[in-house]
Amino acid sequence: MKYKTKNVLSLILGLVALQAAAQSISPGHTWNDTNGSSINAHGGCVVYADGYYYWFGEQRSTNKSDGISCYRSPNLYSWTKLSRAVTPTGTQTDENRDIASGRTLERPKVIYNAKTGKWVMWIHWENGNDYGQAKVAVCTADKPEGPYKLSDVFRPNGCDSRDQTLFLDSDGQAYHIYSTNMNSNTNCERLSDDFLTPTEGYAVQLKGRRYEAAAIFKVGELYWGVFSGCTGWDPNPGRFMWTYDLMNETWQAPADFRASDGSTGINFCVDNGKNNSYQSQSNYVFPVPGRDKCFIYMGDRWNSSNIQSSKHIWLPLSVRSGYPTVRWYDSWDLSVFDEMYRMKRMKEPVDGAEVYLLEKYSNRLVSRPKASLTLENDGNSNTCFILHKTDKPYVYKIENKEMGLYMESVYETTRWQAPADRESQEWRLWLEEDGYYRIENVADGACLSVSGNTTEAGTTIYLSAANTSVHQSFGLYFDSQVHADYEEADMFSKAYRIRNREQMQEEALVVSVKNVKGDTSDAQVYEMGTGRKAERHRLSRGTYVKVRNGHARKFVVK
Ligand code: DGJ
Repeated sequence: MKYKTKNVLSLILGLVALQAAAQSISPGHTWNDTNGSSINAHGGCVVYADGYYYWFGEQRSTNKSDGISCYRSPNLYSWTKLSRAVTPTGTQTDENRDIASGRTLERPKVIYNAKTGKWVMWIHWENGNDYGQAKVAVCTADKPEGPYKLSDVFRPNGCDSRDQTLFLDSDGQAYHIYSTNMNSNTNCERLSDDFLTPTEGYAVQLKGRRYEAAAIFKVGELYWGVFSGCTGWDPNPGRFMWTYDLMNETWQAPADFRASDGSTGINFCVDNGKNNSYQSQSNYVFPVPGRDKCFIYMGDRWNSSNIQSSKHIWLPLSVRSGYPTVRWYDSWDLSVFDEMYRMKRMKEPVDGAEVYLLEKYSNRLVSRPKASLTLENDGNSNTCFILHKTDKPYVYKIENKEMGLYMESVYETTRWQAPADRESQEWRLWLEEDGYYRIENVADGACLSVSGNTTEAGTTIYLSAANTSVHQSFGLYFDSQVHADYEEADMFSKAYRIRNREQMQEEALVVSVKNVKGDTSDAQVYEMGTGRKAERHRLSRGTYVKVRNGHARKFVVK
């Protein structure tokens, strides 16, 4: 009997151990450390050093701030609690330059300084009574896990600094990005060589946008930021922006009016629940070491009445579409990244190329699981198309490879027909600056469009007139496992957009001149979609057509 009890006991212990050695991530569920306690690390970040991941976060005692915790993991799934990275110490000083017990410490971010050999942590610092101080506490340590010692508490460049993050660039420069001016703007400042202070001067970004919860990451030459709005502890739709220069350039987003949730900026969440970022607020975007362009979105599902029990929302983040997108997974592991970039953006359309159409805002592929076209996740229902060049510039016939039939616009629906010499089977690919195309039927002007601004799997594709408030942007993608020889677009370079812009000007000229018969001096040119009149409408060879907003776009000649 005794022996039996022992066996049952060891079975239970074994099961507990199994549970502790987590092999996946289940966002929104209680995430226990290897001791079986729920992970108490909020608003934080992850760094990688010497084969281990270190997770830093706000340690909370119910709501009270209780220093900065540190957990270590060999695999990102199972985490062991180490001793606190920052322990409240000393007494509260009148100068507010301490980390004594009772102070509020939020959103810790850690980077390694290769010059000094120190680990540096920046923390949002408040006096413990309210959010009026808006300072940072800067701490350093010799080892990633700490202990971290206070260097100073201050307002960076004299500015109020609430939600904040650090970004360590590939050239060793580090930046501090923070919500300022009572959260209405976001500032960016370069750090000193030792990363302990900002250098003088800062870039004021995202003016008046009221963004919080910045998390910065980089792909190629592009810096990305994901943000939240300002709604206290309550979640709101996530947004993303980009810039090529953190200090000298305005952040950009695809046109605001296309935001499906009515807010400014574009949402990086693309599944059910996106309107409140899957009930989360961003805290960090972690680049997975050794996996190109693979990121983990880290967010907090705050419980404002017991911050300690707030849940962790970690999800894979992809930039395959050229923009960050975060899909929802009930549970996932790193194998999600294995095929994330199997489908790659084509450099340019090529006669005979086998392509897939990727919809810009959903990062999903045009598919035909049933009779009509819909957007779907990668899988067997994705439709492979073959492009056939015509003698008209930028005009292709689009064959459904599986069916051997050609896409045709018939009474504003897509039909699949045997190849024929008619314009209803011809599709003009209107290049957009980011390398996407509006795919417009030559006969009736109908464009491939996304139903109802939605981004979820199953969204219907339909045909409608060109309209800038409807999602009509599709990228040409190829299966790199089938066509390793196809050329990939360098879409994260600055040159990519510049080249596309130049090509758009060329196209505008070619198309406009081609469409005008006889004397062109009376021709009036209108921008497609907006209906805006072009500034210069006398068309002659070598004259670019310009519209008021700067560069040539898409025109109809009336
Ligand atoms: C939202 C911020 O993002 C959090 O870090 C925290 O400061 C709360 N506001 C406080 O209301």
